[in-house]
This record gives sequence, C-alpha cells and structure tokens, in this order.
Amino acid sequence: MKRKKQFVSDKQEWLFDVSSFELSEPPVSPIHKPIWTENKARLIERYLNLFVFITKHGSYIDAFAGPQEVDKPEMWSAKLVMESEPRRLRHFYLFEKDKEKVKRLRELKRSLPQICQGGGSREVRIYSGDSNTGIQELLQTGCIKPKEATFCLLDQRTFECQWATIEALAKYKSSGYKIELFYFLANAWLDRALAAQKDTEVLDKWWGRGDWKLLRSMNAYGRAAVFVDRFKEEFRYKSVKQWPIFEKANGGGNIMYFMIHATDHYKIAPDLMSRAYEQAVFRGKGYDQISLFE
Ligand SMILES: C[S@@+](CC[C@H](N)C(=O)[O-])C[C@H]1O[C@@H](n2cnc3c(N)ncnc32)[C@H](O)[C@@H]1O
Repeated sequence: MKRKKQFVSDKQEWLFDVSSFELSEPPVSPIHKPIWTENKARLIERYLNLFVFITKHGSYIDAFAGPQEVDKPEMWSAKLVMESEPRRLRHFYLFEKDKEKVKRLRELKRSLPQICQGGGSREVRIYSGDSNTGIQELLQTGCIKPKEATFCLLDQRTFECQWATIEALAKYKSSGYKIELFYFLANAWLDRALAAQKDTEVLDKWWGRGDWKLLRSMNAYGRAAVFVDRFKEEFRYKSVKQWPIFEKANGGGNIMYFMIHATDHYKIAPDLMSRAYEQAVFRGKGYDQISLFE
C-alpha cells in the first residue's frame, strides 16, 4: 500500500530551482493496481492509441525496437503499437542493433498492412545499428515535421540510451510541442550495474555528465525524481512523471523500471497515461474509449 501512495503523488522533492517555469500540470488520478513488466508494452500501446484518437496522426520513433524476449511477442512494444487499431500512426522509425532482431522487425513490417486508417500509406523505416547515432542522423534529415505529433520510446536495458540522444530529441522542435518521450530507467539492477560498469565512458555518455556517482547513494524514488527534474530543468518539458513498473502483478516484487514520461501536452497527457495504465493492467475490461472524449 505504501508504494501506491508514493507513485500517485505529484509532490516530488525538487533538486533544482524550478520556480522559474510552469508547474501547472494537473495531478493524475489515483491508480488502483500497479503495472508490471509483462504489460509495459501494452501501456505504451494503450497510451498512443488514446492519444492519436485526438490527433488522428502521429510519428513513432522506437530507439530500441527489437523484442526483449523473442518468444513473447505479446510483450513487444513495437509490435503492439504497429498492430494497434485503428491505424492512425503514419510514420515509424525503428532502430535496433542486433541483426537477428532487425530481421524480426522486417518480418513484422511485412506482416502488416501499409495503409493507415482512412487511406494514405504508412511509412515504416527500419534502421540497423546504434540508435544513438541513428537518431541524430534521422533528425538531421528534417523528415519529422514540426506539427507532426511525435513520440519516442527509449526502452533501454540499462545504459544504452545516451543523454545526447535524449537532448537531440527534446530540442528537435523549435516551436510547438516537443517530441514526447517514454524513457525507461532501470531500477532493480541499477546499483549493481553502476558498480560493475568499468568503462566509465559508457556511464558518462548515459548520464551526460561525469557525476553519475551521486545516483549510487539514492533510493529508487529519489533517483527517478532526479531524472524527472533533469527532464524539466534541461529540456523544459511541461509535464514529466515517473511511472513505476513492477516485477509482478499487483505491485509484487521489485520495481524493475521507472517509465519517465515527458510531454508538453501537460493538460491531457498525464490523464491519458493514467487511463492507459489502468487499461494495460485491466486489459481494457470495462473501458470505453469513446466516452473519454465526449
Ligand atoms: C530492453 S530491449 C527493448 C525491448 C523492446 N522495446 C520490447 O518492447 O520488447 C533493448 C533492445 O535494444 C537493442 N539495443 C541495445 N543497444 C542498442 C543501441 N545502441 N542501438 C540500437 N539498439 C540497441 C537490444 O538489442 C535490444 O533488442
């Protein structure tokens, strides 16, 4: 019960002076059941489904797009998002460095209709290689238009997503709404991983600075709050929230990850994420999508 209270709260301790910018994002409604690793992909799919119900379009970037567990396709975010109906997302940019998983992505692309809801073709680009360089290159092409609602999943295992990649995504749009981010911060094994990582350059790039040692002495929620604060302070996202992902159903076991959700749609996005969280946990039982927007 204690955990539930912690993660529905919007009151986080600010590590930086944030008084100078907007803090008017609404609190999210209470969550009844916490989400666990098996449905984290469904959380992303549900949220995007709800969001594009409003925008009717969108681009999806997945920086670590291959399936985490090849024999569990129901847990694979890219698959769930691409299969989600109605097909309103129009552009997909999928990055993966493992050659076998790139093949899976290509198979997935072939298995689905390349047409969007209401007509028009759907574009799916698959990039084989390191997404930290790939995303920078993609953004430099300017193919993501300023008015296109754009979402980026950063579902790293631990230290794969470099801070410079987050920065490039966050600062890409010079006007309008920034690219919305779903950043996965490892938790259960982070202390061990920090201690075991002998190549400190990996940590410097992941954290974007040299003072990552400060994370070692922190508890889970404190650490997540540091990331929330950095996303707000450095990139000026209007809403940044941490969503814990538990090991087992009903909040059992460890917090495996925090999903840090950064968005400029501060009035609607936290509420949609809250609804998506419930839908992912309850598998959509009793939820009527249309009624959300009446
Ligand atoms: C945690 S898994 C992603 C899970 C996936 N989002 C899902 O829903 O199942 C991380 C993936 O990123 C890939 N990967 C790791 N480092 C990468 C990098 N620098 N660039 C691109 N892909 C990378 C791994 O091969 C692995 O498939």
